[in-house]
Amino acid sequence: MAIPMLISRGEFRAVPWAAQLLAAKRSSWRCVSCRHARLVPSTRPRRFATAASADGSKKPYYITTPIFYVNAAPHVGHLYSMVIADVLKRWQVLLGKSDAQLLTGTDEHGMKIQRAAQDAEMDTQAFCDMNCKTFEALAKATNIDYNHFIRTTDAAHKEAVQYFWEMLNHRGYIYTDKHEGWYSVSDETFYPQSSVHMALDPSTGRKRMVSMETGKEVEWSSETNYHFRLSAFKDRLLQFYKENPTWVTPNRYMADVVKSVSSGLQDLSISRPVERLTWGIQVPGDETQTIYVWLDALINYLTKAGYPFPPGQEGRLGWPADVHVVGKDIVRFHCVYWPAFLMALDLPLPRNVLTHAHWTMNREKMSKSTGNVVNPFFAIDRFGVDVMRFFLTYQGGLADDADYDNEYIIRDYKKMLQWGLGNLAHRIMGIAKWNLRPYVSAAASDQLPPATPLDLEHQSFLETAPAKVAEHMESLDPRAALRETIVIIEKANKYFHAAEPWKNRDQNQRIVYNVCESLRISGILLQPFMPSKSQELLELLRINTADASKRNFSAAAFGADLEYGGESKKHVLFPPLASEE
Ligand code: MSP
Repeated sequence: MAIPMLISRGEFRAVPWAAQLLAAKRSSWRCVSCRHARLVPSTRPRRFATAASADGSKKPYYITTPIFYVNAAPHVGHLYSMVIADVLKRWQVLLGKSDAQLLTGTDEHGMKIQRAAQDAEMDTQAFCDMNCKTFEALAKATNIDYNHFIRTTDAAHKEAVQYFWEMLNHRGYIYTDKHEGWYSVSDETFYPQSSVHMALDPSTGRKRMVSMETGKEVEWSSETNYHFRLSAFKDRLLQFYKENPTWVTPNRYMADVVKSVSSGLQDLSISRPVERLTWGIQVPGDETQTIYVWLDALINYLTKAGYPFPPGQEGRLGWPADVHVVGKDIVRFHCVYWPAFLMALDLPLPRNVLTHAHWTMNREKMSKSTGNVVNPFFAIDRFGVDVMRFFLTYQGGLADDADYDNEYIIRDYKKMLQWGLGNLAHRIMGIAKWNLRPYVSAAASDQLPPATPLDLEHQSFLETAPAKVAEHMESLDPRAALRETIVIIEKANKYFHAAEPWKNRDQNQRIVYNVCESLRISGILLQPFMPSKSQELLELLRINTADASKRNFSAAAFGADLEYGGESKKHVLFPPLASEE
């Protein structure tokens, strides 16, 4: 099959400078037959930038969520990806990087969406318009502090994808070939014969071919389409993983990636004939082919970072991403295909890929196709936004799957929030007669009673705890960071009960002050996890939350704020849950 003209006539609306660049490249493109020649991978060792942005300037911290398929409504698994990414972003803001960027959005092309729209008897664009709103509503309902919401049907994204394609083609990484194999619409993936087997569908008793990896049904396909020379990147990828051993976290996923790439890479089919797939971005200059949805989708991370980059402005909007948050089912796309695509264009690679495991129901993956999903809107309605954010981060697994159950949410709410944090705050405020100022003033003027060994032990714990939380965040482990923060509350409760400020009149002032410091520090550290509840707590302590310096990470140090306190209104932070009353 001859490759038709590579530049589409008129409809490729690249920005003017990009159009010029393309025109210049076009004149040096190789002839069709040369393009068919297999590319000999370069032996020249290359360094793939993972540190400074390409133009060397300071760039904003940039975090992404996966973009969500709009074939069905969101579930708690999707919410988890969003929450983890949001916690990372808010943490950066807490550190003072107020320009940190968070990108989320929807993945709207491909067979899966095309079929879902057909099943719903809707126009595909109208179907996407309708469903993407639910994902955006979820992000808003969950207080996700995103800067951009991308839709892969956006015009700017189409341009970015077509430009990217043309650059791959220009560099000789694309060729046409016959492709035969099994395709799973649900996974939007081709599988070789060795990765599928016949299995019984438990609900119908029907025999069908399924992917061994995901259990999803596959269908045979034999077609001519465009291929990407993924196999040319095996050595470079392995070299990159070797040089960046913590690129994928948790570590076990890195090991899987290295193992799978070491065992060999086949070229990747990156388009589908238009008779099979119409709903997608057309291959530039070839109206008979539609770009493979995963190539299209991955480029979303570049689109919102301003790709195609005007010369000298590569990092202006954040590229390379600091962290891609992804579920474990999409590691191969992000950790093998994506870096290879970027390497092909000498673009800097994302700095980290934070992978999380799955939420299960009765130990089975929560999934739209299985139908065992929890509606996140209902969960938020029932338990509240911050409680859901807390629960998902505290119990959700990065390395291991976690089972979802309402009972667990209620258990954790009572133990850690209502009794742990809420009760401690309430009791200390009661002892202080809802005014902490005298205690903080006494600390400010060095008039607290001398510290006992018990006080000293708790004070020195408070001096080291925030750094431990920060260390976990630094190593992209929000779950461990939240657990460490909860330890502050647990230790403060133990200290409070051991020191008995209600009895111990002489020591009372220091104990109350130390407990308030525990609450203040944990309140600051909890902001990325529970933005509203932490705000309530900080307001209860009468911290001047309008002053960012009183609530950022450097304020989370023992004795760092001597100005808080004052008369507070009685307020219950964690009331009984509506369903428990
Ligand atoms: N559209 C692709 C991602 C493209 S990114 C360039 C996709 N979409 S998805 O809607 O199927 O999944 C989006 C995210 O939700 C993925 O990170 C996936 O791992 C996550 N989850 C889907 N089900 C999940 C659970 N049961 N538990 C946790 N996360 C889960 O894949």
